[in-house]
Amino acid sequence: MIRYLVTGGAGFIGSNYIHYLFDKYDNNVHVINLDKLTYAGNPDNLKDVENRPNYQFVKGDICDAALVDELVPRVDIIVNFAAESHVDRSIGDPDAFIKTDIYGAFVLLESARKHKIKKFIQISTDEVYGSILDGSFKETDTLEPSSPYSASKAGADRLAFSYYVTYKTPVIITRCSNNFGMFQYPEKLISLFVTNALENKQLPVYGDGKNIRDWIFVLDHCDAIDFLITNGTLGQVYNIGGGNEKTNIDITRLILQKLDKPASLITWVTDRPGHDRRYSLDTNKLTALGWKPQYDFDSALTKTINWYKDNTLWWSKIKTGEFLDYYKKHYKL
Ligand SMILES: NC(=O)c1ccc[n+]([C@@H]2O[C@H](COP(=O)([O-])OP(=O)(O)OC[C@H]3O[C@@H](n4cnc5c(N)ncnc54)[C@H](O)[C@@H]3O)[C@@H](O)[C@H]2O)c1
Repeated sequence: MIRYLVTGGAGFIGSNYIHYLFDKYDNNVHVINLDKLTYAGNPDNLKDVENRPNYQFVKGDICDAALVDELVPRVDIIVNFAAESHVDRSIGDPDAFIKTDIYGAFVLLESARKHKIKKFIQISTDEVYGSILDGSFKETDTLEPSSPYSASKAGADRLAFSYYVTYKTPVIITRCSNNFGMFQYPEKLISLFVTNALENKQLPVYGDGKNIRDWIFVLDHCDAIDFLITNGTLGQVYNIGGGNEKTNIDITRLILQKLDKPASLITWVTDRPGHDRRYSLDTNKLTALGWKPQYDFDSALTKTINWYKDNTLWWSKIKTGEFLDYYKKHYKL
């Protein structure tokens, strides 16, 4: 029985990862989910697993060293998803990003070192490399993060590496591209645009819409993490990508087409400051180990759209109050 501490497990990727673990390993895993339940953490994401005897939810902060020290001796593996994760919010209010993404990772690493954890997976991001116009980033390339979000993630990424080098803490670092899928807080491109289109609301596209991201279905990301826990080498960094580079405007048009909604819903808004033009990952290091994504982009997007269609209550509960205030102020809509 492998015992996991999943941090940030009530968020988008963390909750999909917990579902993935139970679907794959059923009663042969034990999961403690440590989550602060910020605006992005949602207990609804885990309703179907909350009564499992091999699942425990702990509401708390990864920056709380005493709490972390209580939990870490009870697990074999830490998978650190907990983070402030929205670039736009990091521009207006970087404070929480520095605290959670860097200091929180430090608290977890210290506890992992002290209690001799078997494995520590630091979930980093492709955004740590910054923008690239031609070619793709390899794991050995220079990091040039350009937002407070990506800079704080780069700090944690390198701190985790330093714990491997200095203390031999068994760390693996993953840098994944843009995820999409079920349970994504509806402020990110695909979840926001699908839900706005379902409500016949405007789809705010930044700048000229030609920013390029590589997209991966969230369950492929979860699968790659699971694969690396078994097959990855300690102290190494692995890029994880879906091999689906798309412009924002192409994705927007595809969503409208799949939902049979008019192009007139597209609304051009002023670009965000420091908006990286293109992200691209070279994933040969991971694929050489024998892993590849299972989902093709088009069918995973349809699956995702259908999930938001079938779970209106999940997102309509979120898209009220604080969400709408932030949204209107941010996009000036
Ligand atoms: N979403 C993507 O496309 C993407 C791509 C690559 C990497 N990542 C990384 O994956 C991780 C998860 O991303 P996500 O999209 O699921 O984010 P999310 O914002 O949906 O979830 C983050 C979760 O962390 C929790 N949290 C925040 N601060 C905390 C704290 N101090 N202590 C405990 N819990 C806290 C929140 O309550 C929330 O449940 C992040 O580390 C992010 O940087 C995301």
